[in-house]
Amino acid sequence: MTDYLDIIKAKDVIVCCGTGGVGKTTTAAATALAAARAGRSAVVVTIDPARRLANALGIDRLDNTPRIINGPWPGRLAALMLDTKSTFDEVVTRNAADAAQAERILSNRFYRNISTTLSGTQDYMAVEKLSELHESADWDLVVVDTPPTRDALAFLDAPLLLARLLDNSVYRMLTAPSRGVFKAVNSAAQTMLRQLARVVGADVVDEAVAFFQSFEGMEDGFRSRAMATLDLLADDRTAFVLVASPRGDTLDEARYFLDKLRDSDLSVAAVVVNRMMPPLSTSPERSAEISRLRLRGHLSAAAVSLADHTAAAAGDNQRVASLMDDVGPACLVRIPLLSSDVHDLRGLGEIAEHLTEGSAQVFVE
Ligand SMILES: Nc1ncnc2c1ncn2[C@@H]1O[C@H](COP(=O)(O)OP(=O)(O)OP(=O)(O)O)[C@@H](O)[C@H]1O
Ligand SMILES: [Mg+2]
Repeated sequence: MTDYLDIIKAKDVIVCCGTGGVGKTTTAAATALAAARAGRSAVVVTIDPARRLANALGIDRLDNTPRIINGPWPGRLAALMLDTKSTFDEVVTRNAADAAQAERILSNRFYRNISTTLSGTQDYMAVEKLSELHESADWDLVVVDTPPTRDALAFLDAPLLLARLLDNSVYRMLTAPSRGVFKAVNSAAQTMLRQLARVVGADVVDEAVAFFQSFEGMEDGFRSRAMATLDLLADDRTAFVLVASPRGDTLDEARYFLDKLRDSDLSVAAVVVNRMMPPLSTSPERSAEISRLRLRGHLSAAAVSLADHTAAAAGDNQRVASLMDDVGPACLVRIPLLSSDVHDLRGLGEIAEHLTEGSAQVFVE
């Protein structure tokens, strides 16, 4: 039987996924804090954290270097706010044959455009950062937050983004030598490019061709890097944590995520259901009894809200139980809705306690 603390203690990488606004960033940061409390050296890669939380963590600027957060824990805690653009630049520089090739790519206008706007780039750079921190051996645990998306595949597909782009038939046509058997292909490409230039402008096309050509020789490097990253995601030392809320629509989306992970032969180690109704020491039966007492005035209003609250909490529990039926073996953690947003270390500490306290968790087979 595994609980969330076991996951925090045992894993090298924890990926917090889930749909928009459910609490991925909060859970990722609180998980790293819980790890530091358990004596581990943990770093969290956050993506667009709320400004006040970023301020509290000392990471209020995009910055690719982990910032140490000091506090009364035996381990080490650090955080960074992912800077997609400069991570992409680092990846290019690391893979280029020499400084001149790196410079050719980095100064290309088409590159500068796609390195921030191409769909999936943020996910790609999050996994790149995760691999880099994991390989650096400075950290026992790397926790990654994921961008808000409905598409779970964006993250799982992300490592292949550039390898696929460079594998693409258009790329091969553009970079084919204009001699021998390639001549016909290349003249077809030229015709296509001339047509394209009439629509988007010749300089845009020239930049795009120069972009693809400047990657010459780097394709294999990107492909093997992508494979190594996918292996790391599939490794036993990596855990996927699915964050959800007890609301019906986000639980449906959580199911969709589970299916996608399963299609990729990945399973979730834990489901964190965030913003549960805080439990009251009453049951639906007891609150029904109270509402039959014909109370008057304020007491009557209080009895009605108690009944509403208890019914809503019972509904949440039922929906969560039904999700867990579909999950397979995993640890379920319920986090109550706190009375205010989680914007400082105290709030994160409270979430970290809920993540690791035994009573909030059950192991579901
Ligand atoms: N249990 C909780 N109680 C109260 N407020 C919470 C709780 N969990 C998260 N929040 C607040 O909800 C907001 C959204 O949380 P968070 O930023 O972690 O979500 P997210 O899944 O990362 O969102 P996005 O998909 O936009 O990145 C934040 O303001 C956070 O402080
Ligand atoms: Mg977030």
